[in-house]
Amino acid sequence: MKSFAIPLLALSLGAALSVPALAADEGKIVIAHRGASGYLPEHTLASKALAYGMGVDYLEQDLVMTKDDQLVVMHDHFLDGITDVATRFPGRARADGRYYVVDFTLAEVRSLRMTEPFQLVDGKQVPVYPARFPLWQSDFRIHTFQEEIEMIQGLNKSTGKHIGIYPEIKAPWLFRHEGKDISKAVLTVLKQYGYTSKESKIYLQSFDADELKRIDTELMPAMGMDLKLVQLMAETDWHETMVYDAKGQATPYDYDWMFKPGAMKTIASYAEGIGPWKPMVVTEPGTQGKPVITAMVKEAHAAGLKVHPYTFRQDEGQIPAYAKDFTDLLNIFLYQADVDGVFSDFPDKAVEVIKAHGK
Ligand code: G3P
Ligand code: CA
Repeated sequence: MKSFAIPLLALSLGAALSVPALAADEGKIVIAHRGASGYLPEHTLASKALAYGMGVDYLEQDLVMTKDDQLVVMHDHFLDGITDVATRFPGRARADGRYYVVDFTLAEVRSLRMTEPFQLVDGKQVPVYPARFPLWQSDFRIHTFQEEIEMIQGLNKSTGKHIGIYPEIKAPWLFRHEGKDISKAVLTVLKQYGYTSKESKIYLQSFDADELKRIDTELMPAMGMDLKLVQLMAETDWHETMVYDAKGQATPYDYDWMFKPGAMKTIASYAEGIGPWKPMVVTEPGTQGKPVITAMVKEAHAAGLKVHPYTFRQDEGQIPAYAKDFTDLLNIFLYQADVDGVFSDFPDKAVEVIKAHGK
């Protein structure tokens, strides 16, 4: 949780923006997953401001692209499930029934109301997390990547803190298929706002290994940038990353190599960290008081990689059998499995656990 910084002047946009530099040793970090999303609708500016005030180290931005090439902060590349798009723009869904962000302009996306994630059950909206903020309460809107960076950098100035950003490039394969280069767009914005080197307080994450290699070996050198990259890890059958063949047929990217000997060394050739799913680090369901820790963290550390697993939630049904409660779960990961940081929807709880340990 330590954070020292050397303020640098961002030269972009005529604004006096302070870009925090990374401490030599950050200690264990808390990443606000989609903001303080356990308390306010995910990826709203309100949720980010709340997380900032809770004392986190980094705020996460999931990034997708609109029809007119603007980067907006939201988790899915679909608008249904968090907005009123179906009633505002009936008839704009694709054949699969989904409303794709990439089919809407920024002005259209901004005009939507945004709420807690919901599912349709028998035609009725049911919240994904029933104990969280109520559906459709208050007025929340989708915002751009630039707007969020400006809020965080503004807060860094007004509070004197140096909180970092942790953007994720979502589904670059899908945007490429739509004729869009989302990675280049993300890097362009980051450069404008002063995030350019490994010392900048940012981790740039993606599930797409081929895209991370492209960013590392082509895009960043061409743009004079050298950011820290994080390889997110998935199971192949989640279909998190797809690969298009010459005929336009998509098949799932095969993640199996990431779980084989030597994988961490391979990842370390293009990234500075991994973002594993929690059960890849501590086996589930397990037995209370006897967590079974896999070799992943040790192997990653041996390869020089940071380990930031996702996602720590205290909602009902989200505490694995090996943990007594949410605090115990966080302690197991941070101080038994020895991960370097956690993505949490309840970042205040992770901040408390790390403070109680003194680092
Ligand atoms: O980026 C870390 C974690 O957020 C990955 O999962 O699906 O919540 O973006 P997701
Ligand atoms: Ca994410």
